[in-house]
Amino acid sequence: MKNVLVTGGAGFIGSNFVRYLLRAEPDVRVINLDALTYAGSPENLKGLPDESRHIFVNGNIIDRALVEGIFRHHQIDTVVHFAAESHVDRSILGPEQFVQTNIVGTFTLLDVARQIWLNEGGFAPEGARFHHVSTDEVYGSLKPGEPAFSESTPYAPRSPYAASKASSDHLARAYATTYGLPVTITNCSNNYGPYQFPEKLIPLTILNAVRGKPLPIYGDGKQVRDWLYVEDHCEAIYRVLLNGKSGETYNVGGNNQPTNLEVVRQICRILDEVQPDSEFFPHDQLIQYVADRPGHDRRYDMNIEKIGSELGWEPRQSLETGLRLTIKWYLENPGWVEAISSRSDYQDWLEKNYAARGGQR
Ligand code: NAD
Ligand code: TYD
Repeated sequence: MKNVLVTGGAGFIGSNFVRYLLRAEPDVRVINLDALTYAGSPENLKGLPDESRHIFVNGNIIDRALVEGIFRHHQIDTVVHFAAESHVDRSILGPEQFVQTNIVGTFTLLDVARQIWLNEGGFAPEGARFHHVSTDEVYGSLKPGEPAFSESTPYAPRSPYAASKASSDHLARAYATTYGLPVTITNCSNNYGPYQFPEKLIPLTILNAVRGKPLPIYGDGKQVRDWLYVEDHCEAIYRVLLNGKSGETYNVGGNNQPTNLEVVRQICRILDEVQPDSEFFPHDQLIQYVADRPGHDRRYDMNIEKIGSELGWEPRQSLETGLRLTIKWYLENPGWVEAISSRSDYQDWLEKNYAARGGQR
């Protein structure tokens, strides 16, 4: 890999991955294509190397002419595709953008790669690779006693977000099977860590708790997620790029299955420890039950044996160590927090989401 197109590299996981890759591969150049939606920010890219190794392009993955231009101009040999609308709650209130970006956008990227790498045969080197980043949510919701998701679990998406990601996975796989495009896919569990937009459970809980705001728990809070520290996820993708087999899918997870309530209580406990003098001590007094998310998936659990046995990857962080690192990062980066959470579009969204949950901010 030499010239890597990272899409969505100004978002949470994408920006962590750009940092990871530039560190891991000193000779790689990253072309970072991101539309800077509400979820993407130049704040996430501060401190990256200059133009010689990281070229930022503000643009939309649906713009075929732009994507083609990038492939040709930068002789792209590797794509790592993160760009997406990523929040389930937003997909419930406004699904259309999810269809556009997640399905049409992924199609556009795949089709440009097919045209330039395969049809024109131009500069596609032997090792060309299109890596598509997806989610465990495509597998649906587990009932009590059902085994963890494996790579052969049938797709059964339930939210508009999950359905759009499932659709993009099917397109990616179809391009591998039909045209022989060198595609790999990872389906990973819930990520957390530095630079995560504060609409998601873990950063929302940390930031609300330190400000003494309510910690909203949807429904009974007994829904189960598997949590993956973002740096572990970046390493998994990197290993798949290096040694993953073209046409294959790999599940990536963090080896833990707490309920949402347990996660929120764990964050509160760590905050009690690091901020014992807080006026909001004990922080779990801020927990507030709010109306459930429609169609809320009850439980996810990931079987990660394949990536372990084939590529030697396993998560380094436990939920406890990962949460400590994450809390430390949010407490040490008030400038980032202020720049991101003061945006009026985010404040408007919070109002809308809390109105839908029947709660208050
Ligand atoms: P994010 O919402 O933080 O970032 C998405 C980025 O994509 C933003 O920078 C945004 O500006 C950009 N983007 C959105 N639409 C675009 C478009 N049309 N053209 C170009 N750029 C566009 O998302 P994230 O949490 O970093 O997730 C990254 C990927 O990982 C997504 O594909 C998501 O489905 C997948 N994923 C995320 C999680 C998670 O827990 N966050 C879990 C599993 C899979
Ligand atoms: P989220 O971070 O939105 O990720 P996803 O929906 O992709 O799993 O939510 C994680 C879990 O936490 C999910 O079960 C919904 C729940 N949740 C709350 O209980 N309260 C909240 O304020 C948020 C944002 C999520």
